[in-house]
Formats: sequence, structure tokens, C-alpha cells
Amino acid sequence: MSKDASSQRMEKIVSLCKRRGFIFQSSEIYGGLNGFWDYGPLGAELKRNLRDTWWNAMMRERDDVVPLDASIILHPAVWKASGHVDTFSDPMVDCLLTKARFRADQVEPQSGTACHFTGAKAGDHASERAFSVLIRKGENIERARKVARTFYAEAFPAGTAPEAIELLGETLEEGIVNSKQFNPANGSLLTEPRPFNLMLRTHTGPIESDDNVAYLRPETAQAIFVQFKNIFDSNRVKVPFGIAQIGKAFRNEINPRNFTFRSREFEQMELEFFIRPDEAIALLYGSVAEWHEGADLSKPQPNWGWEMWHRYWVAQRTAYYDGIGLGTDVLDYYWQKPDELAHYARATVDILFKFAFGTEELEGIAARGDFDLRQHQKHSGKPLEVFDEELKAACAAMTEADREAFIDATFARRTNPDVTRGEVAAFCANLFKGNYLPHVIEPSAGLDRLALAVLSAAFDEESVTDDKGKSETRTVMRFHPRVAPVKVAVFPLLKNKPELVAQAREIVESLRRHMNVFYDESGAIGRRYRRQDEAGTPFCVTVDFDTVGENGPENAGTVTLRHRDSMKQERIAIADLKAWLLERIA
Ligand code: GAP
Repeated sequence: MSKDASSQRMEKIVSLCKRRGFIFQSSEIYGGLNGFWDYGPLGAELKRNLRDTWWNAMMRERDDVVPLDASIILHPAVWKASGHVDTFSDPMVDCLLTKARFRADQVEPQSGTACHFTGAKAGDHASERAFSVLIRKGENIERARKVARTFYAEAFPAGTAPEAIELLGETLEEGIVNSKQFNPANGSLLTEPRPFNLMLRTHTGPIESDDNVAYLRPETAQAIFVQFKNIFDSNRVKVPFGIAQIGKAFRNEINPRNFTFRSREFEQMELEFFIRPDEAIALLYGSVAEWHEGADLSKPQPNWGWEMWHRYWVAQRTAYYDGIGLGTDVLDYYWQKPDELAHYARATVDILFKFAFGTEELEGIAARGDFDLRQHQKHSGKPLEVFDEELKAACAAMTEADREAFIDATFARRTNPDVTRGEVAAFCANLFKGNYLPHVIEPSAGLDRLALAVLSAAFDEESVTDDKGKSETRTVMRFHPRVAPVKVAVFPLLKNKPELVAQAREIVESLRRHMNVFYDESGAIGRRYRRQDEAGTPFCVTVDFDTVGENGPENAGTVTLRHRDSMKQERIAIADLKAWLLERIA
């Protein structure tokens, strides 16, 4: 798709979202708030369905995952331990001319000639501040001088006209290629990048001081680590097991963009899946199952190490997306290279979706080792290790020589060269007693990004010809029935026929406890179908004269069932309708 076609498609999606009540800008009547969004009636239903599909797939349909619903504000020490206070930042640059703020890595590279100035003077006033402007091929140097005068005017007494400013020390530097040092909008020099912490700060209690600073959580994951031991101790769970959580997260993004894609408030769906360290698997089963192309990932096996578990979760998440209509035609995968990995991660794969504005991350699946639990154990001073009876029993029969050989082998395989043999020996001694910090595989998805992906994949326009031979564009949201906001719309053919209305209302009543049903009696039937096409309702049911037996007995008690995607119609008995629909939306 060309760039123009892609941006047109995106504009149409955004406009449909507003027109049909999927997504509105937050506080729109006050001019909106950048990076915040509200979900209208259809959007709220869509989001809820997506949330439910995740919750069911990741927790309810499994017996090795339990849920958590933690608070949004945690003790600030949590964010110090997790590394967010010190390192959760993006590089930020400011335009020296307009003060507009950008994420340094998102500045579009510019090429051309840089005009440098050492300073400027006007009357008795002088500035020795250096400034530069980039001019692109074909642009006049006068443009650079005009920008520079506007910049220096700020430094001089109010009212100094830019034209009265004399620029000093002008030099030209040709051959600037793909530089990110200049504002693409006006060519002005940008500041050097500096880190900008993305956590939204607030204060707890009545006094605003540094002592009661708190943060709105930038991810839901940390609460899971912090509550890990409570959950482990209060539930009959055994490693491997997971803790799942869905909830709001907040990031003070420098540049919220691409509709809801990068927002300041969003919802995450995260699973922390705790597994035995590979060393424990080796002690229990003699070796660790190695991943290879074509390995059977369908059912977890006791001898799986972190790599098999990581691959397993990638496969599980792929199957999940497929089950809600996002197949491998719209998804892609990015395996982070060793030098891109966070220092604690052993592997991370990003599941990407082909958005109209580019192929971007939908979910990250990281193998995080025991980093998080280790950090919280260290910072809180509370032991977070688990005791594994089976492991202790497996080690009981080991001789001293076996143990030394195991320590040697573990030391030889260490990935961190700074780790000493003594440290390895202490870790192994703990393992021999059945104690360890579990390792973690983390599939972390964004609900709002998923909603945007589902809206993008569903959006379609096709040319159709009506009964009178007139062609028109049909806009249709081809949601998978499982996630469609409305599952079925019910219409009486005519609103002034009480027997049709009564029958239609009766059908609505019989279905509404089982699914989201929409009743509509206004307008021509074709218009009603079109409205539901835009809402993405997969099925429409019309109660007509056949239904109430006016055209003979053979179709009495049946309704017209219209399929959104094919627009085909068929008759179905009212008595069969509920089961027929439930089978398709489950
Ligand atoms: N605990 C790991 C973690 O938070 P992340 O890659 O920063 O990892 C996970 O976030 C997911 O959360 C992303 O893949 C994305 O779907 C969603 N997400 C992150 N930042 C977001 C934002 N500013 N707006 C919308 N969704 C976001």
C-alpha cells in the first residue's frame, strides 16, 4: 500500500471510530487532552470482549495461571528496585526556536546544508550563543537567516524586531546527511538528547513533598512480582505457574501518536509465568530439553527450560491472535538481537501488527530470568525464594563429588563472566536444598493497541450494487464474531406492524442474557443493514410477514438471518437461533 493510501486508510478508520462511537478524544469539548482516549459504546464493548478473550485464554482455560488485581499506585521503592526510577526514560530533544519537544529517536533524519552562527547583536545588546539552521537542497540561505533572527530576538529586550538583528560569524557546512539534530518542521537546531523519565508522578496524602512522591504504575508487571510470595504462599500453586493481570498503566510519553497506538494512559494485559531455573531442571531430569525448529510446543513438558517455555508462549500468543481474527497475514515477529536486549533479558520477541502507519509492536514476550524477583528480594530484604520439595528429594541422593561436578559444570556455562565460582557454589548449595528464585517468561500485551489492531484489520470498503442497479461503497467492519461489539441486531421489517415488533422484541429478550443484542426498527431495512455493517455486527435477524405466518405456514416461526460478510440471507427457526449464534460467538 502506498504511503498516501495508508494514511488515507488510517484517516478513515479514525473518522469511523468517532462517527460510530468506538473511540473519542478525551475531554474533546475542552479541546482534547493529548495522549488520552475514551471508548464510546461500541468501543467499550469491543474492549471488554478483547479483555475477556485474553482473560479466558491466559487464565480461565488453564489450570496453571491465577489472577491478580493490584493497585495502580505502589510503594515508590518498588520503582526504585525495578529500575524504573533510574532508567525508565526516553531521550528527549527540544527545538531551540519553538521549544517543541520530540523523542530523539523519532526525529525524521534531515539532509542539506547547515548554516552556523556564532551569535548576534542588535543595538547595545549582543548574544554569543551559537545557533544553527539546516536548509534543504533548493532552499535559500535567507530562510536560515530569518529563522536565526527569530531565534536571537528572544535573547534581546522585548520588542526587538528580528530585522534589526545582525547575525555574526556565519559559516556554511555542506553535505549534512541524515542528521537528527535539526527540527524537520523549521530546520532549527535541536538540543542535545537528555533522558526524560516517563513515569507520571503524584503525591499521596495532603502534603506535596519529596517524601510522599508516588508514581502511577508504568506497567502492571511489578505488582505481580511484589505479590508473588503472597500468592505462592496463599494458593496451592507449584512452579511452573503464572500470575495474570489486566489493568491501567500510565506513561508520560513525549510524543503520543498514531491515534491510540502510543497513549499516556492505556491498559496492559500481562502474564508473569514462573518457571524453574534450568539448573533445577538439569538436577531433576538429567538434562534440559533443547529447542529446535519444529519442536513440539503443544503441551508443556517437565524437562522444559526457559527457551522451550519462551517458544511455547510465543506459539500460545500466536494461536490466541489467530482465534480473534489476527492471523499471520497481519502479524510479524521481531526477535531482538543480543545487543538490543535489556541487560536482564535472555530473549525477547516482539509480536508486530501491520498497522496502516507501519508494522509496530503489539506485544512483547520476554524471558526475564530471575531479575525482577532478585531485585525485589534485595531491595525489600524479604526472601522471595520458593521451596521445591521434588528438587530437594532429587538432590538428596547426590554424593559430594556429584555436587562438585555440578557446580563446576554450572560455573563453566555461566553467561556473566563476572560471576565467581564461590557465587555459583552458593547458588547450587541453595538448589540442592530445594530453594531458588523462579525465572520468568513475560507475555506483555497492550489492550488499546490490540483494539486498534482489531479495528484496523476489520476495516473494509467494498463496492456493491443495490436492487436498483446503483453502485455504492459499503463500509464494513469485519470483526471476528467473538470480539464484535454487537453480536446480533434484530429488526421488525416494519415498525408499524405490532405483531412484527412484538416478535422482534421477544427474540431480543430471549437472547440478551447470552450476548450483546441490538434492536432497531427505524429506516429502510437496507439502511439498517448498512448501519450494522459499520458497527461490525456479524449477524442481523429480520422478523417479517413469513415469520408471523402471513404468507402461509411453511416459514412461520422462522426469521431472515443476514450474514455481514457475504450479505447472504437464509431462513432459520427462531427456536434454533440462540444455539446457532452461541456456537459462532463462543
Ligand atoms: N512489563 C513489560 C512491559 O511493560 P512494554 O513493551 O513496555 O513492556 C508492553 O509494554 C505492551 O504495552 C506493549 O507491547 C504495548 O502493547 C503496550 N504499551 C506500551 N506502551 C504503550 C503506550 N504508550 N500506549 C499504548 N500501549 C502501550
